[in-house]
Amino acid sequence: MTEMSLYTPELPARPATELPFADFLRAVRTNALGMWPQAAYEQDVLERRMPGRTQFLLNAPDAIHHVLVSNPGNYRRSRASVRILRPITGNGLLLSEGEEWRHQRRTIVPTLVPRMIPMLCGHIAGAAQAGIARLAEQPGPVDLLAEMQFLALEIAGRSMFSMQTDAYGSEMRAQMQRFAMRNAQPHLLDMLLPVWMPSPRDFGRALFRRRWMGLMARIVAARIEAVHEGAPRDLFDALMAARDPETGTAFSRTELRDQVATMILAGHETTATTLFWSLTLLAAVPEEQQRVAEEVQGVDLSPAGAADSLKHLARTRAVVSEALRLYPPAFVIVREAIGADRCGDLVIPAGSVVMISPWVLHRHRRLWPSPDSFDPRRFLPDAPPPPRFAYLPFGAGPRICVGAQFAMAEATLVLARMIQAFQIERTDKRPVLPVAIVTTQPDHPPGFRLQRRH
Ligand code: HEM
Repeated sequence: MTEMSLYTPELPARPATELPFADFLRAVRTNALGMWPQAAYEQDVLERRMPGRTQFLLNAPDAIHHVLVSNPGNYRRSRASVRILRPITGNGLLLSEGEEWRHQRRTIVPTLVPRMIPMLCGHIAGAAQAGIARLAEQPGPVDLLAEMQFLALEIAGRSMFSMQTDAYGSEMRAQMQRFAMRNAQPHLLDMLLPVWMPSPRDFGRALFRRRWMGLMARIVAARIEAVHEGAPRDLFDALMAARDPETGTAFSRTELRDQVATMILAGHETTATTLFWSLTLLAAVPEEQQRVAEEVQGVDLSPAGAADSLKHLARTRAVVSEALRLYPPAFVIVREAIGADRCGDLVIPAGSVVMISPWVLHRHRRLWPSPDSFDPRRFLPDAPPPPRFAYLPFGAGPRICVGAQFAMAEATLVLARMIQAFQIERTDKRPVLPVAIVTTQPDHPPGFRLQRRH
């Protein structure tokens, strides 16, 4: 494939220069991808004055390394992230800080190490098989966004609780939907007020939190009753058995509830959108879809064989990696500087907002050739690795995503299974534009036609 013949999907408009404050705020609320001017994709650091504080967007590898890896203790999650995510994740790993975070991280990491991946692959493959059977029965156009959201929540539920989602899946889906529609959009005061002072949206969020955590507590209680001896069947068994390697402490019932809620939130929508974008890209580039189809032909993707087959899916995995580059679900990693800091010539005052945006980094002119074009060859095993800190779909440093290997296994296996079963085409040519509020979603759910492969 020459550079000229690469497929370049449509992009949301990029402002030519820095947006006035009111337009900037509108972009944060409606589509954060439109908040960075063209210069963001060309420079090392972009600085913006906000009322009462300065905001930095970092693209330079040394600056990113400094904030995420060498001095992470000086940077905490932003107020808006805490307000928006706390109702759904409680005090789980995502939002905890300091010693509490260290205890949780030490305890959780062993539950998601590579030796757990085969058990998780069994759940992924089982749910994918059921999903394919459901899709094969649907006549006419299919909404693959909704289908992938359904499937990813099913996988999250099965991996977490084995078959227990049957009882709770629809309530979980309805509550998540309500949260996304009513509670997730940031408000100006979410960013300005200290976390202990409620913003206007926090009242609705508190109501949501009560209902959602009630549901999580019911699921956890049911699982604690159903005691199980022997090898863990799912993540819940692993979390129940987990002990802090330094103190020997187990998670309390409330901690278990919050970790379960955190993993469901952090894991399901992110993987669903990765799958949606991967399928959309393959529908747009039939030759690439054909290459994936050739790779997956005859590969054993059953619950028993899926884990072993992962090593034969290099092209499929490269498509997933490229979809994560072009449409990173976590489009921005935001931190607030606790104390003043310095990195080379860059002075970061206390209280500044520091942003590292996978969306911007992954499309940066100096870091990638043809940055806006779809080219999975960048991620084939023999390709040179991306420049340092240029590719961060899962973050970096001590707070790097704990579910990254699980997510990659899930997206690769489901994509492989979908292409093994179906030839996928769009039903129309309307461009699909990414919109980022909590994750990077499409602006509308396009229709797809699925034809069974023989
Ligand atoms: C494609 C799918 C996924 C993407 C793109 C993704 C992305 C990320 C990113 C960028 C971070 C770091 C945030 C930061 O530094 O502020 C993160 C953290 C986290 N992710 Fe994921 N994630 C994915 C799937 C998952 C899955 C499947 C799970 C759970 C099983 C998970 C659980 C978590 C947790 C608990 C954290 C917080 C870690 C900490 O603060 O120590 N993620 N994720």
